[in-house]
Amino acid sequence: MTMRATALAHPNIAFIKYWGIHDIDLRLPANDSLSMTIGPLATRTRVEFDQGLFQDALILNGDPISGPALTRMQGFIDRLRQQAGKAIYARVTSDNNFPISAGLASSASAYAALALAGTSALGLKLSEPELSSLARFGSGSASRSIPGGFVSWQTDPQTQSSFAKSFASPDHWRLCDCIAIISTSHKAVSSQEGMKKASSSPLQAARIADTPRRLRICKQAILNRDFATLAQVVEQDSNLMHAVMMTSDPPLFYWHPQSIALMQAISAWQAEGLPVTYTLDAGPNVHVICPQVSADKIIHRLRQFPGVLDVIQAFPAGPARLTQDDSQV
Ligand code: PMV
Repeated sequence: MTMRATALAHPNIAFIKYWGIHDIDLRLPANDSLSMTIGPLATRTRVEFDQGLFQDALILNGDPISGPALTRMQGFIDRLRQQAGKAIYARVTSDNNFPISAGLASSASAYAALALAGTSALGLKLSEPELSSLARFGSGSASRSIPGGFVSWQTDPQTQSSFAKSFASPDHWRLCDCIAIISTSHKAVSSQEGMKKASSSPLQAARIADTPRRLRICKQAILNRDFATLAQVVEQDSNLMHAVMMTSDPPLFYWHPQSIALMQAISAWQAEGLPVTYTLDAGPNVHVICPQVSADKIIHRLRQFPGVLDVIQAFPAGPARLTQDDSQV
């Protein structure tokens, strides 16, 4: 007997980042965060629980995968099997419509799609908050790829429930994420590893203490479609996270010289009056955020910028959803 389902999920870019784990077993983040789900970038994942299998298998963009990526996925599938009370191996086939080799994080869309397809194949009917809550055990940011549009991920310290929900739909604000690819090589230290050291930075406590203020300003700026306020808080939040990374023990430097040169150029473009801002995750690529009406001008400048290898355009997108087996990503 085979039980199968296919799901599609988009990645997300955090405007207020999470960095640090408060409770490793419950995978509770050190701070609440806020993001925009972005498409057309997407992961499509098919999960087949098959009694004829003798072990789990992962096929990623056409290649069979072994080693740590398979072990991590098996740990997540074990959680689903336990929840469903079923002991059957799974074949997981996952495809991205954006190059993994572009150095863009794919774990958010990957684990959101896996959570939805896996639970649905097992006949578990979870609500959106339940799915988001579950997805965070695969990758923290995956919890924010279950809902669409503008999303906040909150943890209740009393009940310890921790899930993301949408506070504005994708069409609320026509923003563009122009992702400037600076390097395509895989990062030396994954975010999961890197953030284990977050509390070794003396700056982390101050970053956490100030997070409610930044979240409030960011959410209000989005609701008011106030780009100038958004730009200021998004940059400050990204720089704060990188300051923590650089001052952890051992220190982590994700920025490349070209990332810094681009951030400086963006400040100069702002001084010219262009509505534009930047944010960087655990890597050197620069997410250049602007209103869609200014995107052509910004992309033209980015393509000419020394050290920018490619520019990928992304827009606010919808939630994770079940899809047909043979649909295109
Ligand atoms: O999804 P994780 O647990 O690998 O962490 C990702 C963390 C950042 O991308 C650096 C920040 C964020 O909030 O997305």
